[in-house]
Amino acid sequence: MKDGKHITMGIESSCDETAIAVLADGREILSNVISSQIEIHKEYGGVVPEIASRHHLNNIPFVFQKALREANLGLTEVDEIGVTAGPGLAGALLMGTAFAKAVSAASGVPLVGVHHIQAHILANTIEHPDLEPPFLSLVVSGGHTHLIEVLGYNEFKILGATRDDAVGEAYDKVARVIGLGYPGGPKVDKLAKEGDPHAIEFKRVYLEKDSLDFSFSGTKTGVINYLHSAQQRGEEVKAADVAASFQQAVIDVIVDKAMWALERTGYAGLAAAGGVACNSALRAALAAALGSRGKKLWIPSPILCTDNGAMVAAAAYRKARLGLFATDRLDCFPGLNIETQLYKLDE
Ligand code: KG4
Ligand code: ZN
Repeated sequence: MKDGKHITMGIESSCDETAIAVLADGREILSNVISSQIEIHKEYGGVVPEIASRHHLNNIPFVFQKALREANLGLTEVDEIGVTAGPGLAGALLMGTAFAKAVSAASGVPLVGVHHIQAHILANTIEHPDLEPPFLSLVVSGGHTHLIEVLGYNEFKILGATRDDAVGEAYDKVARVIGLGYPGGPKVDKLAKEGDPHAIEFKRVYLEKDSLDFSFSGTKTGVINYLHSAQQRGEEVKAADVAASFQQAVIDVIVDKAMWALERTGYAGLAAAGGVACNSALRAALAAALGSRGKKLWIPSPILCTDNGAMVAAAAYRKARLGLFATDRLDCFPGLNIETQLYKLDE
């Protein structure tokens, strides 16, 4: 507690960002330190799990000190420490949870285990005080694509999920075959602005009638096949058209399914979340579709869409208010399902 404000720290290390943030009263960002390993993994074309773990180990103490220093707080003023316990890379998660448990044990500050995707969704609560459960959420990240009903701060119900690639994964693979490098999503986003989204009709996969599940691997393979056959015929390919047309195909399906979910559930709007929610074309398409239906779009600022500690702190703050603390036996769970009530796992 500091000046009557409730202070929450959030620690995130599930993939290639070592990130720690401090929030006051669940919304005010006092610090949000993100140490990205992108430059290190770039030369391998993707995240190398062992290298990620080693860098988390090196970085966490510095990121932790910096987050407290920028917040101008001491550890004793922190009310709880939230840490991502899953899903994610096993070794990477272990670094964050081991560090958080050690700090909690040494200081007596209580610990909260946080689900990474719940944190992405609850990042919306930082900037949007009007957003409260129940609501509908669209999660579009590097590892997940979900339509989720958020019934409470600790109760999440999956309405639809990808059956193969996550949308961010498809973006990254398409970027690689076009020759844009890693991480692909932001590069496809930028290049697509110079292309014609209707130049090439890539497959839009809707699955069974009324299904809220997704499938992006067919669209991704369509891009690969298009490039191969153009190469075999010696035809020149306009990379910007490929990027824009691929993006349009996946966005059409995502927006349609999100609108179906909204019609079916009757909620007042949609809370978008995850790294791909940074995508400028997706943000514009969601805003247009929701606006024309008189529905609201909640979406975090781009810096709160990709992996960060503030979203973990926001989720931990909500869980702490419900009394959902973890013990020092908190483990990490690489395949953790979003419907699992995490705090029960270490009871
Ligand atoms: O949520 P996130 O940071 O990590 C996971 O939990 O997976 O998402 C990372 C993903 C990557 O696939 C990255 O390429 C994608 O988000 N991404 C984007 C954009 N910015 C990040 N995809 C499309 N357009 C963007 N502007
Ligand atoms: Zn993430």
